[in-house]
Amino acid sequence: MIVEYIQHLSLPVPRWVKAMGFGREVVSMQARHERCREAWAPHLEAARALITEAAESCVKTDHAVILGSGLLLDIPLGELAARFERIDLIDLVHTRHVRRQAKAFGNVNIIEADISGAARSVYSLSMTAEPDGDRPAPPIGMKATSHAYIAATVEDTLANPSALIDLPVPAPDPALLDGANLVVSANLVSQLPLLLMGWIEAHCPWAEDDAKDAFARSVVDHHLALLQNFATDNPESRVALIAEVLRLVHDAGTPVRKIDALFGAQILNEGHEWWWDIAPRPEIDNDVDVKLRILGIPDLARAPQSRICRNTTLAAP
Ligand SMILES: C[S@@+](CC[C@H](N)C(=O)[O-])C[C@H]1O[C@@H](n2cnc3c(N)ncnc32)[C@H](O)[C@@H]1O
Repeated sequence: MIVEYIQHLSLPVPRWVKAMGFGREVVSMQARHERCREAWAPHLEAARALITEAAESCVKTDHAVILGSGLLLDIPLGELAARFERIDLIDLVHTRHVRRQAKAFGNVNIIEADISGAARSVYSLSMTAEPDGDRPAPPIGMKATSHAYIAATVEDTLANPSALIDLPVPAPDPALLDGANLVVSANLVSQLPLLLMGWIEAHCPWAEDDAKDAFARSVVDHHLALLQNFATDNPESRVALIAEVLRLVHDAGTPVRKIDALFGAQILNEGHEWWWDIAPRPEIDNDVDVKLRILGIPDLARAPQSRICRNTTLAAP
């Protein structure tokens, strides 16, 4: 626990990213990987093989973009760095270890960016968020808040009165993918809404449940649309998607609870499927295990249409 605390303290990420919990998630993932290394190995191997399959099918090899590169556990970085001239690793959190790994190759860039296109706007929904730059000490009871920040918020609200009650519309940046011959969304899409939802729960008591659900779904939909649009507009490029579609809580194989990991969104293509034993007992509970159904599509534009709905409790295994 102390090791994780120190790792979190020393993460080279902006304050707002830490405040929203992105740093904590990556540090916990690292610790969980240490504890569950054996159980995770088949999943990580399957994910790496899928990325290799996608990379090998690329006609041009100038530029690869990895979305959600995280700890690089499921990324065959050595292979990619040998095949492509330039690789961009995109995530909100890059640990010092990941930065060192990237630097060792010479053609691997670290890019810190919000892939959802909604994180910063969600963060700003909180009146207790800290504004950028130096400022005089805040009044008692208004920790980390400045008059200028409140004034700007009031001004924005007067200009757009629904801004304080509407949750933002995600605006993922298509420029992140510009010029890529290979784009990989690496076990990311189901994660995109989670911390945003946590922040909204904690800071936006006015948000209705229906609005929150619709927001989570729209974050997933916008990411899938980002990938689909890029694949359609760039037919020579390859877009590979590795996505959690179902979370299964089970008791030694007997289902206890099925959770739709995509908040109702659908991936309507066939691909490779496998289980990720992410939390065998006692990782999160002494009495149950958790595994994830993973869908891996090496070439989104050319993947056959799916005949089943994987992430509903009705059709899922
Ligand atoms: C399950 S991990 C992916 C695993 C990663 N491919 C690996 O091998 O370690 C999800 C990753 O998505 C990143 N992430 C979540 N939301 C993000 C966002 N809005 N923008 C950028 N990265 C995000 C997290 O920081 C985390 O590294």
